[in-house]
Amino acid sequence: MTQTIRKAVFPVAGMGTRFLPATKANPKEMLPIVDKPLIQYAVEEAVAAGVTELIFVTSSSKRAIEDHFDRNFELEYELEQRGKQALLDIVRDILPTGVNCVYIRQPEALGLGHAVLCAKNVVSGDPFAVILADDLIDGGQHGCLSQMARLFEQQQCSLLGVEEVDAQETDKYGIVRLTEKGQRLGRVEQIIEKPPVGEAPSNLAVVGRYILTPRIFALLENTRKGAGGEIQLTDAIADLLVEETVMAYQFDGLRYDCGSKIGYLKATVEYALKHPHLKSEFLQYLRGYCLPSA
Ligand code: G1P
Repeated sequence: MTQTIRKAVFPVAGMGTRFLPATKANPKEMLPIVDKPLIQYAVEEAVAAGVTELIFVTSSSKRAIEDHFDRNFELEYELEQRGKQALLDIVRDILPTGVNCVYIRQPEALGLGHAVLCAKNVVSGDPFAVILADDLIDGGQHGCLSQMARLFEQQQCSLLGVEEVDAQETDKYGIVRLTEKGQRLGRVEQIIEKPPVGEAPSNLAVVGRYILTPRIFALLENTRKGAGGEIQLTDAIADLLVEETVMAYQFDGLRYDCGSKIGYLKATVEYALKHPHLKSEFLQYLRGYCLPSA
C-alpha cells in the first residue's frame, strides 16, 4: 500500500539564544517575517503538503505557540464588533479546518534527536515529516515539503531536504555524501553532523526538512550523545541508512537561515519585497536608502 505523509513534527523547544534578548520571553519561532511568525510559515508549508496532524515538541517557555494556533475569542469578538472582517479572516484562517495540533513537552533540551523521539507515541508507526521552522524555505508555487511528499509517494523511503553550502560552513550542518554525485535526488551513503571545515564528505547540507520512516524511533532510543553533547537526529539517520534506503533531495526554492541574524534580515527584506501591500513602497524606500541622491 502506498503511504502518504499526514503527520509533521515541529521541534520548537530550543532556547533561541542567538536572538537574545528578543527571545527571552518570546519563542524564536514566533519572530515575524513581515507579518507572520516563522512557525506559521512552517505550518502552512506542511498543510499545503497534505499534513493534517501537527505535532509540536515544546518547552515551558513556548506557550505563545499554542496560543497562536488556538482560537482567541476576545480578539475575534472585538474585531467583529468593529467590522474588521479582513483582520478577522486572517485570525480565523491561521489553521484550516480538519488540521489538528498536538503539543508535547520536551522535559530537557537534550538535542534534536531527543525532541523527535518525544513525538514517538503520537506519530505511532506512520512515516512523518520533521520541519525546523528556523529554516524558512520559499519554494514558490510548490513548497519544499510538497515536493518531498510527492517524491515520498513514489520512493516510499526516508528523504532529506538538502542544499549546497559554502565549504567553510559545513560545521553548521548535517552533511551527506551520495552514492552518485551530481543528481538532485540521490541515495545517501554517509551522513555526519557538523563535520569540521575541510573534513566534510561533501558540501551537501541537510536543511530543516526531513521525511522519515518510523524505524527512526527505535534507532533514536539507542542514540548516544553526539556533536555538541546532544542526541543528534543525524546520528540516528546514519544508523537508519544501514538498514533502509535514505535519499537526499535538492529541492527547488530559496532557503533563509532564520536562526541567524543575517539570514533573518535577508528573509525580512525579500519577503517584504514580495508582500502585495508593501512591495512598491518598500522598494521605493530601499532605493532611496541605498542610492541617496548626491
Ligand atoms: C540542525 C541539525 C543539522 C541540520 C540543521 C539545519 O542543526 O542538527 O543536521 O543541518 O539543523 O538547519 P542546528 O541548526 O539545530 O544546530
